[in-house]
Amino acid sequence: MAGGHRLLLENARQVVLVCARGEGFLTREALRSLEVLEGASLVVGTDGFIKAIGPADAIQKQFSEETFEERIDCSGKCILPGLVDAHTHPVWAGERVHEFAMKLAGATYMDIHQAGGGINFTVERTRQASEEELYSSFQQRLGCMMRAGTTLVECKSGYGLSLETELKMLRVIERARRELDIGISATYCGAHSVPKGKTASEAADDIIKNHLPRLKELGRNGEIHVDNIDVFCEKGVFDLDSTRRILQSGKDIGLQINFHGDELHPMKAAELGVELGAQAISHLEEVSDEGITAMASARCSAVLLPTTAYMLRLKQPRARKMLDEGVIVALGSDFNPNAYCFSMPMVMHLACVNMRMSMPEALAAATINAAYALGKSHTQGSLEVGKQGDLIIINSPRWEHLIYQFGGHHELIDYVIAKGKVI
Ligand code: NIG
Ligand code: FE
Repeated sequence: MAGGHRLLLENARQVVLVCARGEGFLTREALRSLEVLEGASLVVGTDGFIKAIGPADAIQKQFSEETFEERIDCSGKCILPGLVDAHTHPVWAGERVHEFAMKLAGATYMDIHQAGGGINFTVERTRQASEEELYSSFQQRLGCMMRAGTTLVECKSGYGLSLETELKMLRVIERARRELDIGISATYCGAHSVPKGKTASEAADDIIKNHLPRLKELGRNGEIHVDNIDVFCEKGVFDLDSTRRILQSGKDIGLQINFHGDELHPMKAAELGVELGAQAISHLEEVSDEGITAMASARCSAVLLPTTAYMLRLKQPRARKMLDEGVIVALGSDFNPNAYCFSMPMVMHLACVNMRMSMPEALAAATINAAYALGKSHTQGSLEVGKQGDLIIINSPRWEHLIYQFGGHHELIDYVIAKGKVI
C-alpha cells in the first residue's frame, strides 16, 4: 500500500543507536560498547519522528511501495544521533579576545572577574545591545553549532542580571525556539554574577521577589517558555545559602534545577544539588567524593565541560571516577566569551584525551545523557523508533571518526537533520 514518509536514509555502513533501553540515560556497563547496526536503513515519518530502523533489505521490503519526500544514499557512511550540547551561554554582545591574551599571560579567571572583566564586561555590552542585534549574533552562533552536528542545545540567559535585560535575553532565546530548526532548552541564569552594589544575598532576594514571579507569569501566558534555573555557585559569586534559596524558588515555579557548581573551589555544590533534586550540575572540577556518590544514587547528571578546564588550565573533572561510580555523565561546549567553542565533536575529543573517557562514553555523554541532563531523553538523544528524527550523517565508514578527527568537522559531517528535516 502506498503511503508517505518524509525521509529514507538508505544502507548506511554503520548506524549508532545509543539506545537508552527505556531508562533515558546510559551508565557504566552499557557504555562499554554502543549498539551499532551495519548495513542499515532508517525511516522518518512526515511528523518528524523515526518510524523504522533495521537491516537495509528488510526496510526496503517493508517500505518498497512507499513514497518518500527525500531519500539519501548512505553507502559507506555512518548515521549517528544528533549531538546534544548540554551547557551554553550563546546570547551576548561584546568581544573578549583581549581576556584570552590576559589569561595566556597568566591572569586567572577570577583575577579578571574581580577586576570587573569577565561576565561583568559582557553584561555591560549585552545591556547596551538591541534585541535585534542579540538575535542576529545568536542565530549565527546556532548555525555554527548546527553545522558541527548539534540538534539540541541548552541556552542560558545570564548576561543581563537586571530583570529587564534578563527578559530581553530570554525573549531572544524564545524567538529562536519558535523560528529555528535546532531544538532549544532555555535556562534562566539571572544569578550568573552579583550585580555591582549588591551582595549575593540581596541579589538572591531580588531574583526571588521580582524575577521569578515575572517568569512564572510570562510562562503562564505562553510568552516565554523557560525550562531550567541556573546559578553560578562559586566562592566570590553566589554562596551556598543564596544558591539554595534561588534554586528552590525556581523549582517552586516548575523549573528544573541545572546549575554551575564546584568549578573553581570545592563548595559542596553537588551535595546541595542532590538535596534539592537537581536534574544536572555543571563543571564539577572540584567536586568531593561524597558529592559524586550522592549524584550517582540520585541520578543527578554531571555536565562536564572539557573546553573550560582546557582553556583555563583547570584541574580536569574526574570523569573516570564519576563513570565508575555510576554517575550519568553528559557533555557541553560551555560556549561563551571565555570558552569560544561551538563544536561538540571537539568537546568529545577533549573529553577522551584530557578526561580519559572512551569514545562510546563520550558519544553517549554528548547525546542521550546530555538529553537526560535537559529532561529530554524521552524524545531526543538516541536513534529509536518513536523518537524525534534528529541525526547526523558522516562521510566515514567508522563512526569513531567524529571524535578521532581533531577539527575540520564541516568536511566530515555530510548532513544534519532535525525533526526529519535536512538543515
Ligand atoms: O560556565 N562559570 C560561569 N559561567 C561561564 C563563564 C561565563 C563567562 O565568563 O562569560 C562558564 O564557564
Ligand atoms: Fe557556564
